[in-house]
Amino acid sequence: MEKIVSLAKRRGFIFQSSEIYGGINSIYDYGPLGVELKNNVKRQWWQAMVQSHDNIVGLDAGILMHPKIWEASGHLQGFTDPLVDCKVCKKRFRADHLLEGKGIKPDFRPSDLSAEGIKCPECDGELTAIRDFNLMFKTYMGALEDTAAEIYLRPETAQGIYVNYDNVLKSSRVRIPFGIAQIGKAFRNEITPGNFIFRTREFEQMEMQFFTTPQETAKWFKYWQAQRLNWYLDLGVNKKKLSFREHSQHELAHYAKQAVDVEYQFPFAESELEGIHNRGDWDLSRHQKFSGQQLTYYDDQTKEKFIPHIVETSGGVDRATLMFLIDAYQEVEPRSGDQDGKHETEVVLRLDKRLAPIKAAVLPLSKKLEKEAYKIYEELKRHFMCQYDAAGAIGRRYRRQDEIGTPFCVTYDFDSAGDKKVTVRERDTMKQERVEIGSLVDYLRDRLCTN
Ligand code: GAP
Repeated sequence: MEKIVSLAKRRGFIFQSSEIYGGINSIYDYGPLGVELKNNVKRQWWQAMVQSHDNIVGLDAGILMHPKIWEASGHLQGFTDPLVDCKVCKKRFRADHLLEGKGIKPDFRPSDLSAEGIKCPECDGELTAIRDFNLMFKTYMGALEDTAAEIYLRPETAQGIYVNYDNVLKSSRVRIPFGIAQIGKAFRNEITPGNFIFRTREFEQMEMQFFTTPQETAKWFKYWQAQRLNWYLDLGVNKKKLSFREHSQHELAHYAKQAVDVEYQFPFAESELEGIHNRGDWDLSRHQKFSGQQLTYYDDQTKEKFIPHIVETSGGVDRATLMFLIDAYQEVEPRSGDQDGKHETEVVLRLDKRLAPIKAAVLPLSKKLEKEAYKIYEELKRHFMCQYDAAGAIGRRYRRQDEIGTPFCVTYDFDSAGDKKVTVRERDTMKQERVEIGSLVDYLRDRLCTN
C-alpha cells in the first residue's frame, strides 16, 4: 500500500485534499493522471451497464434531495454504525470492527464490549457502551439555520433513482424488467475512514437499480452477480484475488433481503468492492407511502398491478480505482535500457489499455528530431490521451511511461524521416514494431480497443 500511495502522489494520480493546510482527514483529490484513470473506470462501467443493455437507461440526480426521502428510505433511522469511544484517549472505533478483530462473528452484537474483554486498541483504556451513530452529513438549505431547513448530503445515489422511477417509466419506453444507472458522489460521516481511498467520507458510487417482478428477483440477482464479477475479470483483474461473500442476516443493511459482495484481496484485507442487493419492494413501497404518489407498475399482458422489486448493483468508483492500481502494480527487473545503476527494479503498471490514463507517448530519440516528433504527437492527441516527452535518456522516458501504465511508446528516430516509420514499443511484451506514420492512428486504435 505504501508503494501505491507514494506512486499515486509522485506521478499525479491522487493527492491528499487541502494539503497546503495540513490536509483534511480521509478526503482525496485526483490529479492529472488520476482523473483520467477514474474517468476511464466510469466510462467502462457506463458502457457495460447502459450502452450494452437495451433495457438500462442512465440518470443524473441531485445530491441534495427532499429531506423526507431519508425518512422514507429508512436512512434517518437505520443508517447507523455501532460506535464506541475510549474513555481515556477519546479515540472512536466501530464496535463491529473491534469484534471482528477478535475473531467474533459479525452477527454477534453485544451492547457493551467490556464483557468480551475488549479494550481500546490504542491505549488499552476502557470503552464506552455501544451507541448507534448516523452516518449522514447534515446541512442547511436557505438562509435560516433551523430544523425546518435541515437537509442531508445523499449517503447513496440509489434514492435519486427510486424517486425518479415513475418519471423514467413515463418518459422512456422501458418496460419491466429494466434498469436505471447512475454515477455520482455520495457522502458518509464514517467513524473510521482509512486505507487511502478505500473508505473515505466523500466518494463516488456507480449504481444500477434493476426493476423486476417479485417472481423474477432471484433470477436477476444471480444474473447481476455474475455480470458484475465478469466486468472486473474482463478488465484484467487477477481472478484469484476476486471472490463473492454473502452477508449474514445480521449484517444486512436495513433495506436488504439478501446481499452478496464482490470482494478483492487488498493488501490490508480481503474487502468489499461492490455489493449486489435484493432490496425487494422496500424502497418503492416506502416512497409510495411517504409521498402519497402511486408507484405501482401495470403489466399490460398479465393485467396485474404491483410494486416492482429491485435488484441493485452498487460499486465504488474510488475503491475500484484503488483496486485497479493495486492489481496492475508490478516491480520487474530493470528493462528500459539505460542501466544507470540507480534502479534495482522498475515499476510497470499493467493496467488494461482501456483504463490506462495515457494511451501513447511520443518520444523523439534526439532533441534534433523534436519538430517532426511533435507533429506526430499533435496528430495522435486528436484521437487519444497522449504525452510528449523529450527530456532525458530514452530508457528513462520508457520507465516514466511504464510507471504510469502507458500501453504504447512511439519513438521517432534518425531513420524516420527516410522510411516514414516510427518504432512502437508495447508496454507488456516490450515488442517493438516499425509502423508507417500514415497508419499510426489506425494501428493504435486497433490495439487500444477504445470506442
Ligand atoms: N446503495 C447501496 C449502497 O450504498 P453500500 O454497500 O453501502 O451499498 C456500495 O455501498 C459501495 O459503495 C461499496 O461496495 C463501496 O465500493 C462504495 N462505498 C461505500 N462506502 C464507501 C466509503 N466510505 N468510501 C469509499 N467507497 C465506499
